[in-house]
Amino acid sequence: MPLGRGAVPSLSLNNGVPIPQVGFGVFMIDPSVTASVISSALDAGYRHFDLASFYGNEASVGAALKGSDVPRDELFITTKVWNSDQGYDSTLAAFDTSCAALGFDTVDLYLIHWPAPMLDKYVHTWRALERLYHDGRARAIGVSNFEPVHLLRILEECSVVPAVNQIELHPYLQQRELRALHANHSIVTEGWSPLARGGLLNDPVLVSMAQRHGVTVAQVILRWHVQLGNVVFPKSATRSRIRSNIEVFGFGLSAAEMDQVEALDRNGRTGPHPNEYH
Ligand SMILES: NC(=O)c1ccc[n+]([C@@H]2O[C@H](COP(=O)([O-])OP(=O)(O)OC[C@H]3O[C@@H](n4cnc5c(N)ncnc54)[C@H](OP(=O)(O)O)[C@@H]3O)[C@@H](O)[C@H]2O)c1
Repeated sequence: MPLGRGAVPSLSLNNGVPIPQVGFGVFMIDPSVTASVISSALDAGYRHFDLASFYGNEASVGAALKGSDVPRDELFITTKVWNSDQGYDSTLAAFDTSCAALGFDTVDLYLIHWPAPMLDKYVHTWRALERLYHDGRARAIGVSNFEPVHLLRILEECSVVPAVNQIELHPYLQQRELRALHANHSIVTEGWSPLARGGLLNDPVLVSMAQRHGVTVAQVILRWHVQLGNVVFPKSATRSRIRSNIEVFGFGLSAAEMDQVEALDRNGRTGPHPNEYH
């Protein structure tokens, strides 16, 4: 039976904390429209919000969430430590700064935004996240943009297994090797830029699939993510898209359609490679 409008199932992280499978990304949302965009997202049923100190809008998003009538314990809030704050003490300080900006004492998920391997600080940074986790200030901790070599180092040298790895992921960049590694270690895959920033909305295979199901191309792509077991948080500042992007639980892609999407993979990265970005 299809779920009602805006109803989103949760996945379980490796420490048992539930995470809504479809959330809302806030990168590049202009501060002047944050309040109305967040209000539209809450009205549509989003409860999971993906933030980062780098996005520069923790304060405006936090204020919009706090000003709503949705209780804190119904929200799932992620934020991330930026590269220039990596290191043990500086990460603890960055976390306090993020919480102060958000107006909340705790976050649901705290991530290392990029491995920045040329800094060689991500192991120390992870130890700071472990401290925040053990102190109860982050209900779960994870990483973002980690390649297998970075993840394996955390698994070998540290004690808490990351709950998620948030990576660029969409039909043109399917990251199969990394997803298999995640599955082996009970790490949830979060896909950023799940719509490739709009770059695959005219793909003829996806367009014809959308026509067959009577849905939008974005809904087909988001449904593909959901069926793979990924967590996604499309960004939109457009009210109608905010609503339709969460309505992906009333139809399904067949095994043959999943195969057709799998065949679209083409190493089509839209962002920087994690080994090069600092
Ligand atoms: N960890 C990382 O390094 C990292 C990097 C990038 C992003 N992220 C996270 O991932 C989130 C999503 O990624 P993203 O914002 O880069 O890209 P995205 O969600 O793949 O795409 C956003 C773009 O698609 C458009 N769009 C959204 N829904 C649409 C629809 N139904 N039909 C047509 N166009 C649609 C939006 O336009 P309008 O707004 O005009 O509707 C916007 O231009 C971010 O907000 C952030 O939370 C994380």
